[in-house]
Amino acid sequence: MNPETCWSHLRESAQVLKKQHLSELLSDSERFESLSFGHDGILLDLSRHRLLPETLDQLVALADACGLKEKIDALIGGAHVNPTEDRAALHTALRTPAGKTLEVDGTDVVAGVQKTLEKMDQLVGILHSGQWRGYSGEAIDTVVNIGVGGSDLGPLMTCHALEEFKPDASKGIDLHFVSSMDGSQLSGLLSRLNPATTLFVLSSKSFTTIDTLANAATARQWLIDASGLAVETILRHHFIGITAKPEKACEWGIPEQNQLLFWDWTGGRYSMWSAIGLPIAIATGMDGFRQLLAGAHSIDTHYQEAPFEQNLPVLLALAGIWNINLLDIHAHAILPYDGRLAHLPSYLEQLEMESNGKSVTLDGADAEHRTCPVLWGEIGPNAQHAFYQLLHQGTEAVMCDFIVPAKRYTEQSQTLQEQHRLALANCLAQARVLALGDKALDEETAAAAPAWKRYRGNQPSTVILIDELTPYSLGQLIAIYEHKVYTQAVIWQINPFDQWGVELGKKMATAMLNELDEPNPSAALDSATRGLLGRITALRQT
Ligand code: F6P
Repeated sequence: MNPETCWSHLRESAQVLKKQHLSELLSDSERFESLSFGHDGILLDLSRHRLLPETLDQLVALADACGLKEKIDALIGGAHVNPTEDRAALHTALRTPAGKTLEVDGTDVVAGVQKTLEKMDQLVGILHSGQWRGYSGEAIDTVVNIGVGGSDLGPLMTCHALEEFKPDASKGIDLHFVSSMDGSQLSGLLSRLNPATTLFVLSSKSFTTIDTLANAATARQWLIDASGLAVETILRHHFIGITAKPEKACEWGIPEQNQLLFWDWTGGRYSMWSAIGLPIAIATGMDGFRQLLAGAHSIDTHYQEAPFEQNLPVLLALAGIWNINLLDIHAHAILPYDGRLAHLPSYLEQLEMESNGKSVTLDGADAEHRTCPVLWGEIGPNAQHAFYQLLHQGTEAVMCDFIVPAKRYTEQSQTLQEQHRLALANCLAQARVLALGDKALDEETAAAAPAWKRYRGNQPSTVILIDELTPYSLGQLIAIYEHKVYTQAVIWQINPFDQWGVELGKKMATAMLNELDEPNPSAALDSATRGLLGRITALRQT
């Protein structure tokens, strides 16, 4: 079957299913069994989507018709799946275990990956044992990661999620993350830190990102001012550079022995598995980091080998395709019911929207189908007190991902265990009310309610139930989302691995920097920009 035939079958099904309410679909007692899928400690529950098992078969036929199997093999095999930058996207190689080989452009990338892991291991050992010394000879006890986007969000999200998994060795090291270009995070933080015992990790694939370089310059100056020492001494004792551009890191002054490298074929938003994951390794120990990699690798294998009908990333992607392209739902909320996953929504915002926020196909034509929806999120219980009103009674159709661990606090206090039960109950209740609306109530009570107390329901959602949150299962979860993104990109025929859309703004900002110093804004600018520049200049002079 060709993709167009598959799309037209799906459109026919959508005509029928658009008229059905989830409350009708959920009255089928077999539904959960036929629409929930388990693999290695993760359960993907698709039973609250407005589709039938037969619809999933049609979606799988679409994936087949789009050549998904070959495209997965191309991704994992190291083909140049990123044609606009003419390179592979080999985040899967970063978690391939030692002993395997993968030749890309004539080089075994797995061997290179393993070498970097060894270097990270040594570095983490030196830090944990108090042997990395600052300019005064005192041991480093504070690490500040300076990076932005993919060089910040993955390590930040993971370190926060796995706080409980810190080995004793890492407990003596405080970890901070600084990303904001305006310096507000750094200025607040520096006043609380001891320069003699603080190490900065400059994380930047390109080593040209102005946000990161501006924060790095402030940190470097702070150390020079505090120590009164030469810049070379400061850089040797207090800066590590993680990058794919060692020549740029050298230019900035990071000595070679303080550099950890990764490769051009690692996309920024796919880089937490590379040396960019150093803060994770510092926080969880190298064992924790390796478990994270093992979890992701197990999903890579599953993605490549499992039939699409049982393949978690593929199924998650197909449910999204159904909602976006067949049911016209273009908003997607990420709702973890676990405070440890507080940064997961922003991590996924970058992963999904920077990857699939595209409107041009691989051939350069206009995309035939709507692509990535608007994604946002928050810790679920907190969002209940913020934007759930819109989910329940607004005019927008929204699809939601509920992410929750089944077990938590198993060895902790009764009250904490009770709090976990509370989170589970709220997660299940919200998914239920979003699906059923006031049909969750008895008919009489629902009908007696005034209009402003009615709940329409019919909002689709996925529940991802994780046995327990561990480094391994977090690795699985993130890899599932990465491969979901790739699967959707294959179906939409777009390139998920470039991000040209962010370049023009960067260029314009550089030009605007000069404008800020001009007494009169350039006539070439638009009137709105000229107006604001004039106002800012006047205010800065007062
Ligand atoms: O501007 C977007 C972007 O290139 C992201 O893709 C990337 O994760 C981020 O900036 C940071 O880039 P770098 O690691 O090169 O500093």
